[in-house]
Order: sequence, then structure tokens, then C-alpha cells
Amino acid sequence: MGVVQLQKDLKQPASIQSLVDLVSDDMGRVNELILSKAGSNVELIPEISRHLIDSGGKRLRPMLTLAFAKMFGYEGDGHVILAAAVEFMHTATLLHDDVVDESDMRRGKLAARKLWGNQASVLVGDYLLGQAFKMMVDVGSLEALRILSEASAIIAEGEVLQLGAAQDLNTDEPMYMQVVEAKTAALFAAASEVSPEIADKGAEIRAAARKFGMDLGLAFQLVDDALDYGGSAKDLGKDVGDDFHEGKITLPIIYAVQRGSDEDRAFWKRTLEDGNIEDGDLEHAIQLLRTTGALEDTIKRAREFGASAIQALATLPDGAAKDALVESVKFCIQRVS
Ligand code: IPE
Ligand code: IPE
Ligand code: MG
Ligand code: MG
Repeated sequence: MGVVQLQKDLKQPASIQSLVDLVSDDMGRVNELILSKAGSNVELIPEISRHLIDSGGKRLRPMLTLAFAKMFGYEGDGHVILAAAVEFMHTATLLHDDVVDESDMRRGKLAARKLWGNQASVLVGDYLLGQAFKMMVDVGSLEALRILSEASAIIAEGEVLQLGAAQDLNTDEPMYMQVVEAKTAALFAAASEVSPEIADKGAEIRAAARKFGMDLGLAFQLVDDALDYGGSAKDLGKDVGDDFHEGKITLPIIYAVQRGSDEDRAFWKRTLEDGNIEDGDLEHAIQLLRTTGALEDTIKRAREFGASAIQALATLPDGAAKDALVESVKFCIQRVS
């Protein structure tokens, strides 16, 4: 499907429900596993983990693992275990990310770090990551372990790369996309690739599933970046304007800086580089992002990656799993369209 077709299709409301329905039996088992593996005799561990796990989350990444397992007719338990491991990796990343980003809200609740502090958040994140790797070992696929452990290292690399790019207005689009690929898309890619791997599919099929995950992940993060300026805290479950207050240079900012006047550039420098933010600055930033078309063009890039994700599915088997995956791409993009 090309961008034009996707554009037309986006006029129909998309929902993630078909993906939820497709994998609901398996997801029940994933959720049970998640709860049992979040346990520990050290009380603070289940307390903090459950705080985040019980707040929900879309479970998008494990659903990719389950949907691809279904597409390839995988029979066994490996996909359920790997899906739980993937969600643990994500949960650990969120615990760490909220410390790094000094975020106050996550999944509609106070971030764990606001309730238990940064130290506990980092350490419980480490515990969950350790549990994730133990689960991967249980599956017994060295290749799946390789795919996910590589993603784990790359996510951390992306977060560190972003530390350097933050508050630097010279960050350009390719540099930023490198951050997005690492911090977000790598996990979507790995979550998709492990299923054809354990279903013994060949390299081409694995590459197609991986490409789907990667492009969806890129689209997903760009949508998230746009929502940080254009969304509502109620819908997002996290504060709007977090990126602005952190001086994070995301794609909307890169576009707005490129297109801005000298006066605009001075504004971005004062707020994002120097961190000197006054009342009304966020509103002014949003206005600049709108008038320069920066938000719109960020969403356009997201749509292009979405179309490319759908295109990657072309050689994979038709059926309910493929339909649900296509619908989920549209859902991710519609969150902001
Ligand atoms: C949040 O991911 C982190 C980003 C990559 C933007 P999600 O939006 O998938 O978070 P949950 O799991 O649904 O809370
Ligand atoms: C998303 O980072 C990717 C990770 C969590 C590693 P962000 O910092 O953009 O995500 P949010 O906005 O906190 O969910
Ligand atoms: Mg963050
Ligand atoms: Mg972050």
C-alpha cells in the first residue's frame, strides 16, 4: 500500500481492536506470566512493577510477537514467553526513561520515580530486564536471545545518543532518526522478528517481519513526538510538553528550527538549549510548530513510515493476522491525524 492509499484509508477510523481480538487468548497467558515474573520476596520489586503493569499500557509490542506467531502457525509456548519478555524490556525501559527524562506521569498515574524515587526505579528496571533475559533463555532459541539482547543494547545506546543530541539545536533529521531507530524502533523490530525465527521461517521472511516492526516503530515514535505538543495529557496518560521542558530536540523541533526566522531561532535557543523557559513559552512553541507546518510534516513522515511498514507485509501470508497488523499501523498513525 502506498502513502496515497494509506491517506485515503486513514479517513476510516482504525482501531487496535482487531489485533487485541486476534491475540486475546495468548495475551491472557502473557499477562499471567508477566504478573508471576514480576514477583519477588523483596517487596519493593512487585510493588513498583505492579504499579506500572496494573496501569495498563497498550501492550503493542507483545501483540506484534503474538500476531506474527499466529501468521506463521507457530505451535508451542515460545511466543507467549517471548512476548512477556518483550513487554518486560519495554517496562524496564519506561522505568529508566522516566528517570532520565524527569517525567512525572506515566500511564495516567504518577511515574514510579515520583512515588519511590529514582534509585528504586532504576534498580527495579534492572530486575525486570534480568527477568526478561531469564525468560528468553527458557525458550531455548539462541537466535531469539540474540535478536532481543541486541535490541536491549541498542535501546540503551539510543537513550545515551539522545542525551548528547538533547539541547543541541544542530541536531538534524538523520541524526534524530538514528536515535528513534535505536530507542524505539529496534524493540518493535525485534518483537516482530522473533516469531518467524522460532517458527523456523527463512531469512527473507524474518527480514520482512523485522522491516515491518522497524517502520512501525519509527512511525510510532514520530507520532508520539507530535503528540507531545499536540495531544492531551488525559489521552496520553503522560504530561504534554515534557519534551519541551527537557529541551529534547525531536523531529517537529528540527523542522520548526529549520523554517523559523532569526527571532524564532532565538526563541528555540533560549528555551531548548539554555533551558530558560517562561510562562507562555510552551503555547508559543506549539503555535510555531503549527504555523511552520512542522507538526504536520512530522505526521507526514510518520505516514510514510506507516505505508512502508504495510508494504513490508506484502510478501507475507494473507489472513487475519496480516489484516490486524495493517489496521494497527493505521491506528498508531490516527492517534494524531
Ligand atoms: C511509550 O510507548 C514509549 C514510546 C516509545 C513513545 P507506548 O506508548 O507503547 O507505552 P504504553 O506501553 O502503551 O504505556
Ligand atoms: C521513548 O522515549 C522510547 C523509550 C522509552 C526508550 P520517550 O522519552 O520519547 O518516550 P515517552 O514520551 O517518555 O513515553
Ligand atoms: Mg520519556
Ligand atoms: Mg526519553
